[in-house]
Amino acid sequence: MIKLENVSKIYDLDETKVKALDNVSINIDRGEYIAIMGPSGSGKSTLMHILGILDTASSGVYKLEGYDITTLEDKEQARIRNKHFGFIFQSFNLFPELSALENVMLPMQYASVALKQRKERAIYLLNEVGLSHRMNHLPTMMSGGEQQRVAIARALSNEPDLILADEPTGNLPTDKGDEVMQILEKVNKSGVTVVMVTHNPNQGKRANRIINVRDGKIVDSSKIKGAENAK
Ligand SMILES: Nc1ncnc2c1ncn2[C@@H]1O[C@H](COP(=O)(O)OP(=O)(O)O)[C@@H](O)[C@H]1O
Ligand SMILES: [Mg+2]
Repeated sequence: MIKLENVSKIYDLDETKVKALDNVSINIDRGEYIAIMGPSGSGKSTLMHILGILDTASSGVYKLEGYDITTLEDKEQARIRNKHFGFIFQSFNLFPELSALENVMLPMQYASVALKQRKERAIYLLNEVGLSHRMNHLPTMMSGGEQQRVAIARALSNEPDLILADEPTGNLPTDKGDEVMQILEKVNKSGVTVVMVTHNPNQGKRANRIINVRDGKIVDSSKIKGAENAK
């Protein structure tokens, strides 16, 4: 589905250059469930931003379904992002003035889905993540675990092919983190590709593949289980 070829990312600060990604090449196949692991500052979030087309590489090629998207205009990249990708962040990133329902509906508005359908799908998704009783709550009225489940429902709203989750359980207590992991696993089983950054070895082990990042390089990328099921 996604192929990165010799991708580097250099942050050009005033006096120093930081090579956050150093010649990274990876293939992500449809249906995979990948854990990205590595020490703090090793380039995991940078890799997620590039994979999600939230940022562009300094050099190298990004192919989506065989098409080089590196040279597309920002507007076209945004369209691809909204249509194919869903994002989940450590800090939930919900809009504070919008209810759970409105947060989940919003990406569908950007995708020009009709109001009735937006509402129906948001209700369905909030139900799926166990939040049918929290539809009209604002983020501040919800626990961290609940907010992250809203964020998952939002990430699924436009039926993405790929979910990118950067330390999705990093701000959650263990039990709430486990709930989030179970939902992500269910999402993957339904056919959505999942790429997740985690520091938790137990979460890593539950993925089909662990990509280990160190100093901006991939040091190891091995299939660990269920790889034969991944397409
Ligand atoms: N916007 C930025 N500007 C400059 N340097 C950055 C920026 N984002 C990240 N970095 C640097 O790039 C390196 C990798 O960062 P990051 O991808 O966030 O690592 P990780 O997610 O593994 O902790 C770090 O040295 C970090 O300080
Ligand atoms: Mg990070």
